[in-house]
Amino acid sequence: MKIDINPFLTNGYISKQYFCDREYELSVLSKNVKNDINTTLISARRLGKSALIYRLFEDLEYRGYACIYVDIYACSHLKDFTETLALSIFNSFPQKRGIGQRFLDYLKHFRPVITYDSLNGQPEIHFEFSQPKEYEHTLRNLLHFLDNQNMEVVLAIDEFQEVARFPEKNVEALLRTIIQTLKHTQFIFSGSKKHLMLDMFNTANRPFFSSTQMMGLAEIPSEKYKAFIREKFAESKRNIDDEAIDFILSWTLSHTYYTQIICNGVFAMGKKNTTIEQVKQVCEEQLFLQQITFMQYRRLLSPIQWQLLLAIAKEEFVIEPQAHGFLHKNKVGAASSAQKALSALLDKEMIFSIETTEKTAYRVYNVFLMRWLQRTF
Ligand SMILES: Nc1ncnc2c1ncn2[C@@H]1O[C@H](COP(=O)(O)OP(=O)(O)OP(=O)(O)O)[C@@H](O)[C@H]1O
Ligand SMILES: [Mg+2]
Repeated sequence: MKIDINPFLTNGYISKQYFCDREYELSVLSKNVKNDINTTLISARRLGKSALIYRLFEDLEYRGYACIYVDIYACSHLKDFTETLALSIFNSFPQKRGIGQRFLDYLKHFRPVITYDSLNGQPEIHFEFSQPKEYEHTLRNLLHFLDNQNMEVVLAIDEFQEVARFPEKNVEALLRTIIQTLKHTQFIFSGSKKHLMLDMFNTANRPFFSSTQMMGLAEIPSEKYKAFIREKFAESKRNIDDEAIDFILSWTLSHTYYTQIICNGVFAMGKKNTTIEQVKQVCEEQLFLQQITFMQYRRLLSPIQWQLLLAIAKEEFVIEPQAHGFLHKNKVGAASSAQKALSALLDKEMIFSIETTEKTAYRVYNVFLMRWLQRTF
């Protein structure tokens, strides 16, 4: 019996059937891969970078590319990075034949310790070298191994900005040097820490300077998202009112993750016909569920940071948070302390900035938190 899954994913990627739009971004990424251009993909958190990479991989794998996704968010040293890369390669190919078998044989040269998590059965790979140079050597060899397998390879390194924080200062230069020698491997570097990423790729004395095509990811256009939501309901022989969809997209600011959560909740109600009232109920439920977390923030922030966060939430988008009128109206305090609070909130990822050619706007990072602040205070 076929089990109907909720078509609004709130985690990971299944297939293009559950993926909305991004046609333009896909065509650029695809063109870059074909033309030996590496891409840097930057967006705010939870807008869909990882899902976009998986979506691209679905097409590329169909066309015969070997695609490897490496998430280095949890890596804090070159050692973790090398182990994570080895594990991602290990997990990308069936181990009993072809490249998978060759990789396993090759890996043995580095005397890895391969263990399996007792709870989820997932493999882990560890190298125990006494000399730091050996990790560099292993990293170089792993990438060269891949490059020499008679196939075109696409390697996506997600949360790439973490490399800049490694205590080993030469990793960027090392990677850049290795990458320049590869002939059959294209790279996608993605990350959500915009300033760290831009510094890495746009600063003249950094190794990756001007070495890739930059690509920013914005919200999915409302019309495209609207059609997708309507279509997913219709595929299950259900209807959702236009005003209900409009409400979702404006309430979530079309930010992908929050939109998916609300659509998932609305779909889960299982109604034949979904109205705006049901959508509002799901939105309320979300805020109620997360209230316990949101309450904590007040304790974790200084009074002025909290006041500024609240003020930004109330206005949704703020262009000049240091302006006297804004600070006065919202009882935030003096411009100098507001400036410090703004930097602290940006640092803590409580707010984020949206830069255009003329101005910088700020908004609360977590859309649910923003809605909760607007409603509660
Ligand atoms: N185009 C899309 N259509 C439908 N769902 C999407 C799309 N893009 C992303 N999603 C969903 O939105 C959620 C967030 O996406 P994803 O994890 O890819 O974002 P991200 O930018 O990589 O986030 P982070 O910065 O936290 O790593 C996931 O549940 C994903 O399934
Ligand atoms: Mg991601």
